[in-house]
Amino acid sequence: MNILVTGGAGYIGTHTCVALLQAGHQVVVLDNFSNSHPEALARVEQICQQRIPVYQGDVGDADLLEQIFTAHAFDGVIHFAGAKAVGESVEKPLYYYRNNVTASQTLFEAMQRFGVNTIVFSSSATVYGDPHAVPILEDFPTGPTNPYGRSKLMVEEIMQDHARADQTFNGIILRYFNPVGAHESGLIGEDPNGIPNNLMPFIAQVAVGKRAQLAVFGDDYPTKDGTGVRDYIHVCDLAEGHVKAIERLHGQAGCHVFNLGTGSGVSVLEMVAAYADASQRPVPYAIAPRRAGDVAQCYADASKAQQLLGWQAKRDLRDMVADSWHWQSGNPDGYRSSSDSE
Ligand code: NAD
Ligand code: UD1
Repeated sequence: MNILVTGGAGYIGTHTCVALLQAGHQVVVLDNFSNSHPEALARVEQICQQRIPVYQGDVGDADLLEQIFTAHAFDGVIHFAGAKAVGESVEKPLYYYRNNVTASQTLFEAMQRFGVNTIVFSSSATVYGDPHAVPILEDFPTGPTNPYGRSKLMVEEIMQDHARADQTFNGIILRYFNPVGAHESGLIGEDPNGIPNNLMPFIAQVAVGKRAQLAVFGDDYPTKDGTGVRDYIHVCDLAEGHVKAIERLHGQAGCHVFNLGTGSGVSVLEMVAAYADASQRPVPYAIAPRRAGDVAQCYADASKAQQLLGWQAKRDLRDMVADSWHWQSGNPDGYRSSSDSE
């Protein structure tokens, strides 16, 4: 299949481009590099020994989409482009609604004009808000607690409405749990701007010596050791989930919703111990107050994806931390480590 990958230069997008190319598909990337670096795509080309057509621009730019859809015959779209920082979304909600919701709508309109019906959309477990139980099933009530989460749910709802109105539309909504890790080559990985908000990249920067210690946000949750529990999923498993989803469901009209997680919960302190073990470096930490908006535990029931997509996460926590460390230790300043010093 020939697939347009929006946000293909980002963390999950790069790993998915590798998985798609290695499965024999072709990709065209559209990215405005607002949260990524062109070097990331050069690394994808290096891993796959293949050139990738890249358009630099905004997914909300209807004229650019017209140009891209005219130049290429796509079988489908995988739509990663969007902004993803919860705190920033509270500060700049209008930006989040424009960049995540309005831009997605512009993309759906372009697809309809060109008769491209299949789209895979990056949603998030954040749409469940504070779940009433774990593990979380796809039919649990939704209730995101911040503008980022609401932007994801709004796009899901647009897709559901569009599927009801247009019998040819094939929308695949993937709700990711917590993507971590990196490609086994150590060439691509997560490269956050500034101080990382998320646990794994923060721990990685502590282990590599860029930050002194981790603040553990709360040790009084009703969990196995009092710290927050999440469903961490290796980014390469997640990438393979996209390949399976588009291969299995291509052209099947309607909206299809899947959780992509491992189904097991890992605490903050378990993650710290696993990382210290893999890196053979100390990961100093201090207990800090709870972070506003955090839930005690969040993990998936991913059996629907297993049954209908034939997909299951294969990599365990040890693989996640080992691959994260391989990437982080080889690229302590992310993609800037190589390109800006040349
Ligand atoms: P990322 O920031 O690394 O990648 C997003 C990419 O999209 C970046 O390369 C950025 O430059 C690009 N982009 C942003 N807005 C754009 C626009 N308007 N036009 C063109 N390009 C644009 O993020 P990621 O972690 O790879 O996440 C990919 C998607 O998955 C996002 O939609 C995110 O909300 C969603 N998601 C991520 C996580 C996570 O923890 N990483 C969890 C759940 C869902
Ligand atoms: C966060 C986002 C969520 C998003 C997800 C994946 C918030 C409130 N939620 O979720 O919307 O979908 O990332 O991108 O930001 N932790 C620490 N110290 C740290 C960082 C995190 O103790 O420095 C703890 C957190 O309290 C949590 C766990 O580690 O218990 C995981 O945190 P994080 O990686 O930020 O992911 P989520 O909270 O699941």
